[in-house]
Amino acid sequence: MKRVVKVRAPSNIALVKYMGKLDYVSNLPANSSLSMTLNSLATFTQLEFIPGGSFQLSWEGITSWGATPLRSFCLRDHERIKVEKHFKRVLEYFGESYSGVWRIQSGNSFPAGAGIASSASGFAALTLAIVTALRLKDIPCSVLSELSRQGSGSSCRSFEGPWVLWEGESARRVQSNFEPLSDLVLMIEESEKLVGSSEAHRRILSSRNWQGRVERANSRVTRLQEILLRGDWGEFSSLSWQEAMDMHELFHTSEPSFSYFKSGTREVLSWLESLKDIRSAVTLDAGPNIHLLVSQSEEAVWIERLRERFPKMNVLIDRQGEGASVLYQAEVPA
Ligand code: PMV
Repeated sequence: MKRVVKVRAPSNIALVKYMGKLDYVSNLPANSSLSMTLNSLATFTQLEFIPGGSFQLSWEGITSWGATPLRSFCLRDHERIKVEKHFKRVLEYFGESYSGVWRIQSGNSFPAGAGIASSASGFAALTLAIVTALRLKDIPCSVLSELSRQGSGSSCRSFEGPWVLWEGESARRVQSNFEPLSDLVLMIEESEKLVGSSEAHRRILSSRNWQGRVERANSRVTRLQEILLRGDWGEFSSLSWQEAMDMHELFHTSEPSFSYFKSGTREVLSWLESLKDIRSAVTLDAGPNIHLLVSQSEEAVWIERLRERFPKMNVLIDRQGEGASVLYQAEVPA
């Protein structure tokens, strides 16, 4: 018999960023981070598993999920190795043998290079799919998150939502009284980034701004938790801006320096800066595209405002979400 599992896992956007590692093997972060889980910007993964025999793994990109079109993506060689290692890690953790025929089919609802962490949603989906295919019951979210973190750090924040704190080895949902938010992703450029996040985590250690970075980030995490409880837009907005610029300044002052900013990034940022007093918060991932967080009740007004100012700009629209979920599981004849 063959087990078939379908899962979806959203990406997440960090307001306080994970940048710098204490341990490169298990992805232990230098500082705590806090993110908002997204909803429809997600990875969809189907996993088929025929138990027994020697371990065989195949991976294919898919272009649709039912009626939903997906962006298929290719895994580069080092990514295939990471995926295979992740299987081994998860199987070993649960004392399962490294065996069976595994077929992964996966696609994203968002373009690669969109400034949306595809490794976060991808590894969260993969971890949940493997554990579900093994028919392990009642595995706590914390275990899924810890395992997933070892595949891709930021993926540990995609299992719950809408607000998730990652400290050391574990990630957990945190309390918020903030109104429900939308994430408008302002697409400046869709191309793949030249410096990947693994390289960025290493290179920023050479920045003069690295000094004090861990303390700055950790203190922002503490403040952000308080801001979420108070629901204060002004402080939320300024913390988010300062933190995004802090991370990008690390990139700009590394040796050798690098930048994800494009001229469009600067143009849109300076327009947004002039609107700072309006209820919104700006952040960027390690990429040129801008995340604009606004109240869901003002989403339509913001989309109109953006269309008027930047008529040609593509905007991806998403909302806060609750984390990864299993959509389907069954056993069918092989
Ligand atoms: O999970 P990684 O190794 O791809 O790191 C990504 C880190 C950032 O996306 C740049 C920030 C974050 O906290 O998500």
